Amino acid sequence: MPAEMRLFVDEHVRYIQSLDTRKDELEYWLTEHLRLNGLYWGLTALHLLGHGDALSRQDVIDFALSCLHDCGGFGAAPGHDAHMLYTVSGVQILATLDAFDELEKRVPDGRQKIGRYIARLQDAETGTFAGDEWGEQDTRFLYGAFNALSLLGLLHLVDVDKAVAYIESCVNFDGGYGTSPGAETHSGQVFTCVSALAIAGRLDVVERDKLAAWLSERQLKNGGLNGRPEKQEDVCYSWWVMSSLATLDKLHWIDGEKLAAFILNCQDPEHGGFSDRPGDMVDVFHTVFAVAGLGLLKYPGVLEVDPV
Ligand code: FPP
Ligand code: ZN
Repeated sequence: MPAEMRLFVDEHVRYIQSLDTRKDELEYWLTEHLRLNGLYWGLTALHLLGHGDALSRQDVIDFALSCLHDCGGFGAAPGHDAHMLYTVSGVQILATLDAFDELEKRVPDGRQKIGRYIARLQDAETGTFAGDEWGEQDTRFLYGAFNALSLLGLLHLVDVDKAVAYIESCVNFDGGYGTSPGAETHSGQVFTCVSALAIAGRLDVVERDKLAAWLSERQLKNGGLNGRPEKQEDVCYSWWVMSSLATLDKLHWIDGEKLAAFILNCQDPEHGGFSDRPGDMVDVFHTVFAVAGLGLLKYPGVLEVDPV
């Protein structure tokens, strides 16, 4: 295999393992507001690379549960306020580690508590979701709610039909979706809306060919994908764009070989990790979505992934 097509698995594993041992670096403390998300991204990348045991299962569960508040929501780190996005990461971590039983043992009625916290964030009037009690609304939170509730087996706690109608009200002339009705189509938001519809079993409302054509136009000459027209390529769109295409059964509408080469060029072959584009600094967010993109492309050595 040519060097530029090699996946540096051991280096990526070491990079992710090192993230929690850099407490003497400013960057560690500057990213505290993302700690639980970061743990989910690192754990998922390790699982996809076949090294799920590279982090201690018990330590990960203990940390996740130390972020859980009495209200049923998770914060980014112990003592941080509860928010939808951390709650989704908390649930995803427990699901990945098959730890819902442990949750129930340590927090009586834990699943229901978390489910009720998420359900309270649905806007009864419009059907969409807020990120926390302060009320900012965005289709990211709607997807997060559906994802976490479906993992908990509690989707019935919310008004699914109303949420689906809200997503339909966000559709644009190009078949895509934004953060709210009338907002510009963005691949990240397309991912949230298409995936939420897939969880609800309502992909029938998507204008499949029109949207898949818009998504396939995201591929640039260098093989990378951008998030919307006239923007730069970024490796994380290998997930947001490609998983949407996979859900629509149109993964073959982009050139997978060229994309795989672009993704692999974003690796730091010496210290591990992936950056947004070749030559930039690596981070764990771009690392997980690069690896997940390779999974969708069935790249050897990466677990195949479910797009939603
Ligand atoms: C950059 O927007 C935003 C991203 C790279 C993230 C997009 C992903 C989502 C909105 C989905 C997130 C889902 C969950 C569940 C949290 P930008 O306008 O700065 O970047 P651009 O220049 O590439 O358009
Ligand atoms: Zn990015």
